[in-house]
Amino acid sequence: MIRWCLYFACRSRSGRLLKALNFAGKFPQLDYKIAELEKMMDHPPLKEGTSPFKGADHDVEFKNVHFGYEDTEVLHGVSLSLKQGTTTALVGESGSGKSTLAKLLVHYYDIDSGNITIGGQDITDMSLKALNDQVAFVSQEQFLFNTSLYENILIGKPAATKEEVLTAAERAQCNEFLERLPDGIKTQAADGGKQLSGGERQRISLARAILKNAPIIVLDEATAFMDPENEEKMNAALNEIVKDKTVLVIAHRLSTIKNADKICVMKEGQCIAADNHDGLMKTCPEYKKLWDASVSASTWKVRE
Ligand SMILES: Nc1ncnc2c1ncn2[C@@H]1O[C@H](COP(=O)(O)OP(=O)(O)OP(=O)(O)O)[C@@H](O)[C@H]1O
Ligand SMILES: [Mg+2]
Repeated sequence: MIRWCLYFACRSRSGRLLKALNFAGKFPQLDYKIAELEKMMDHPPLKEGTSPFKGADHDVEFKNVHFGYEDTEVLHGVSLSLKQGTTTALVGESGSGKSTLAKLLVHYYDIDSGNITIGGQDITDMSLKALNDQVAFVSQEQFLFNTSLYENILIGKPAATKEEVLTAAERAQCNEFLERLPDGIKTQAADGGKQLSGGERQRISLARAILKNAPIIVLDEATAFMDPENEEKMNAALNEIVKDKTVLVIAHRLSTIKNADKICVMKEGQCIAADNHDGLMKTCPEYKKLWDASVSASTWKVRE
């Protein structure tokens, strides 16, 4: 469909666009992007409400949530409550539905049945802008806009002062790699992207979330790419910003979420148990298995 729109745009407008498209055709990724956009255009628009946020607090409730990508259901009736002022962790094997559940809280997709509420208000009742103001999401896919790293952080709070942006960058442990870049924080993400590792790009998204200072924070594998020293520093910064907030964190390395108030064990699209670490170690064999695997992975060494 987009291809046809572009075709007609080229025919009806100046030849300049056509030239640009010719040039763009040299990039194989563009075809992939067009396919993605076409898929999006075929997708029905999200059920967006018009209300402002009216929630009584920032407790989050997932109630019997069913969701599928296309025709395959991947979440089969998940119920989970996240209390304001506490940290809830999602753990589980790859593909068990952790990121999908997190994305549903920011209304990436409409759910098929069930409810997701914040402070008692259904998220489909509020406008996407109102919802976006409540939640900061650091995702597994670290997307940076094609502008400077400074502006990429500023998106979190467009009215922020320069000092606030620099402080957020520092708290997210960005300084160590920003100092390495000739233009520092003014580096264009497109150029920087080539020089930045996945973890460094993720730290820019984390700085954005720190600056945003939203009442609900979702961290999907936020420290997955970090070396232990930076991870420790970042966890300290995180502990500071999560006070009084509702936090949902997804981690493969279970040592990072051992102290979470609640840990929800996901298996094949269901939450099979939810308790703290000690409780789950006693009652949930799946959790114990994940814990043992995580501990042995962290001590694993190539033969000396
Ligand atoms: N965009 C998508 N389109 C179709 N299926 C998807 C999509 N994203 C995820 N899935 C499928 O949904 C299921 C849950 O995926 P999800 O990414 O939520 O798992 P996860 O627990 O976060 O895994 P990981 O630990 O590897 O990040 C998987 O079977 C996955 O293949
Ligand atoms: Mg995931």
